[in-house]
Amino acid sequence: MRQTLIAGNWKMNLTVSETEEFFKNFKFRKKENVELLLCPPFTDIPITRFFLERTSVKWGAQDVYPSPKGAFTGEISPSMLKDLGCTYVICGHSERRQILGESDEFVGKKVQAVLKEGLTPILCVGETLEEREAEKTEKRISEEIGAAFSLLKKEEIEKIVIAYEPIWAIGSGRAATAEDAEKISFFIRHTVKEAAGKKAAESVRILYGGSVNADNIADFLKEKDIDGGLIGGASLKPESFLAIYKNA
Ligand code: PGA
Repeated sequence: MRQTLIAGNWKMNLTVSETEEFFKNFKFRKKENVELLLCPPFTDIPITRFFLERTSVKWGAQDVYPSPKGAFTGEISPSMLKDLGCTYVICGHSERRQILGESDEFVGKKVQAVLKEGLTPILCVGETLEEREAEKTEKRISEEIGAAFSLLKKEEIEKIVIAYEPIWAIGSGRAATAEDAEKISFFIRHTVKEAAGKKAAESVRILYGGSVNADNIADFLKEKDIDGGLIGGASLKPESFLAIYKNA
């Protein structure tokens, strides 16, 4: 049984003092079958750890550099994140691919480096509106997944989380329909099966991301191949994030 994962991606939002405010109002009743995760900016990780370390909620990072250490000014290594208690790392979010020009190969290296440190990568994949209209969604996702899988062993593939985030649905208030998200999630699971076998296909968790909120989360989670959500905007306020958790 795959455990549901509700993950918040704060992106470049919330200062340390705003994070303290957030946690003052972060009160919830624990659900056994749902894992809750927050990925704040790097600067907020220590304070997030302070508030979450005695709870069941996990924390992680939004990005990483795929090297253990060295002359990489401004970058953060997997071991630095592990040292701060992070358990998950988002790799290849579309904003990094599009704004910062990260290639499929570079994202693949991040996934590999995160696994090597014993952390769980959340590999983000998804198509632009143009790719969708040109019916190239599956092709694009195969490329993104293929670049990462080419660097991984089957046992490593089993451990990853994949987030399907259609780029046109992110921050737009226009989420994919649950049926469309399921269609692609099924395709992703099939791709995992082809690459790493049945066991991997059954264990990899697939999240949907893109304008998820408390009203639509349950529809996505009803689908057979969707195991959780990656939530941007609605994770910035404790009330909206916890409402999603409650409805999950
Ligand atoms: P959104 O962002 O929930 O604000 O659409 C999702 C994401 O980018 O992970």
